[in-house]
Amino acid sequence: MEKIIFVNQKMYFNSLDEIKTFQLETKHFKDKFVVFPSSIYLENFINKGFITGIQNISSENNGPHTGEISAKSIKEIGAKYVIIGHHEIRKQYKEENNLIQKKLEKAIENNLKVILCVGETIEEKVNDKTYNIIKQELENLKFTNDVIISYEPVWAIGSHITPTNDEIEKIVDYIKSLTNLDVIYGGSVSEDNIETLNKIPNLSGFLLGSGALKSSSLNKIIEVVLK
Ligand code: PGA
Repeated sequence: MEKIIFVNQKMYFNSLDEIKTFQLETKHFKDKFVVFPSSIYLENFINKGFITGIQNISSENNGPHTGEISAKSIKEIGAKYVIIGHHEIRKQYKEENNLIQKKLEKAIENNLKVILCVGETIEEKVNDKTYNIIKQELENLKFTNDVIISYEPVWAIGSHITPTNDEIEKIVDYIKSLTNLDVIYGGSVSEDNIETLNKIPNLSGFLLGSGALKSSSLNKIIEVVLK
C-alpha cells in the first residue's frame, strides 16, 4: 500500500488569506495528502478539490450539543476522514474510551475513514508504561478495516523531539499485534527528520502538524515519502 500523508492544521490558519495561500501553493500536489483544516474552512477545501477530513466529531447524531459537529453532516459535505482521540482533544474534553467508542461508531456508520490517535505521556514513558497505556487506549474498542491507528507520543507533539526509529518500529508492531490495522506515526515530523523516519519499515504513513504549515516543507516531506 502506498503511504498516506495526513496534515492536521489544528487552529494554525485563521484567515481566508492564509487558507488561499496554502491552497494556491499546494494545488499542484493536492491529490498527494489529506488535509484536516479548521472546520470552518472544510467546505472551502472540498470545493477546491482537496481530500479532506475533520479534526474531531461528536459522539452523538443530533440534538442539544452546542459547538459539536455530527459525522453525518461531515459525510454529507464530502469529507472522507476523521481524527478521533487526538491528544489535544482527549485532554481538553477528558475523553475516555467509552466516548471514543461512540465516536468510532458514528464515523463508521457514516463511512468516514478514521485516524485513531494513541500514545503515552513523558511520565508514562519514563515509568515504562508506554505499552500498557497503548493497550488501555485500544482496549474494548471495536474497529473496522477503515480505521488507521496513529502512534503519537504526547511528548513528541509539537516538541521537535521524536522517538528513535527502533522505538517507533517496536511500538507499531505491538499496535499491529493488538489490532491488525495499518499504523502511521505523528509527532514532530518535519522536513529535517522525514528521511530518517521514512526508513521505519512497518509504517503506513505520517500525521503531520506544525511541520507541514509551510507548503515547501509539506512538498519536501511528500517527495521523500511518496518517491
Ligand atoms: P506536530 O503535531 O507535528 O506539530 O507535532 C502532530 C499532531 O498533533 O498530529
